[in-house]
Amino acid sequence: MAIREIRKFPDPILLRKCRVVRRIDDDIRKLATDMVETLIDADGVGLAANQVGILKRVIAIHLPEEDPYWLVNPQIIRTEGNREVEEGCLSLPGYVGLVNRSVSVTARALDQNGSKWRITAEEILAQALEHEVDHLNGIMFMDHLLEHERLREVGEEPEQGETHLHDVNYNIQAHHHEGDDDNPELLVAKAKLSEVTPQHSMSELAYDLQEPKEQDPRGETTAK
Ligand code: NI
Repeated sequence: MAIREIRKFPDPILLRKCRVVRRIDDDIRKLATDMVETLIDADGVGLAANQVGILKRVIAIHLPEEDPYWLVNPQIIRTEGNREVEEGCLSLPGYVGLVNRSVSVTARALDQNGSKWRITAEEILAQALEHEVDHLNGIMFMDHLLEHERLREVGEEPEQGETHLHDVNYNIQAHHHEGDDDNPELLVAKAKLSEVTPQHSMSELAYDLQEPKEQDPRGETTAK
């Protein structure tokens, strides 16, 4: 097993859709066990494969006090209810925001033996499953923010009457192509988080990133 680098927002790979896994082979098992180790090392609850730069539908889950596990091709097949929860993401360290998540989530997947796995979950597992399946579809939790003002730095109490969040300067390593892990380009990015509204998709945000040509990174890079 090995710890892999967790890609940070606004790495474009986080806006890409992951592909269905046709066969659980040694490559998938290696990826998945690395993801579990990476997740434990980062002290997170969930991790999706595009967060480690691989566009495959694999997620790792580690609930507090439970053994970690991984799943292949997870799908949410039913949701019930609505609740507001505070959420963060390993790809946007240091920030949390209030999002709407389901009270109960029924999901199916393949487990590490390739057997059918199905669960109806609540609380943190329901939230994690929705968050990770979103990742596999190129969606980050900021897409669900109830109000952009509510994204705040960890440890900073929300202020009464606060109306504006400062944009975030990020020093990131950009990987423009799958597999070019050896030569990441160092960029200073400005993520205009203050432009996020519930109607917004992250893909519409203006990144100060040297992304080549087009205006719609999601449209261009989405793997069909
Ligand atoms: Ni995440």
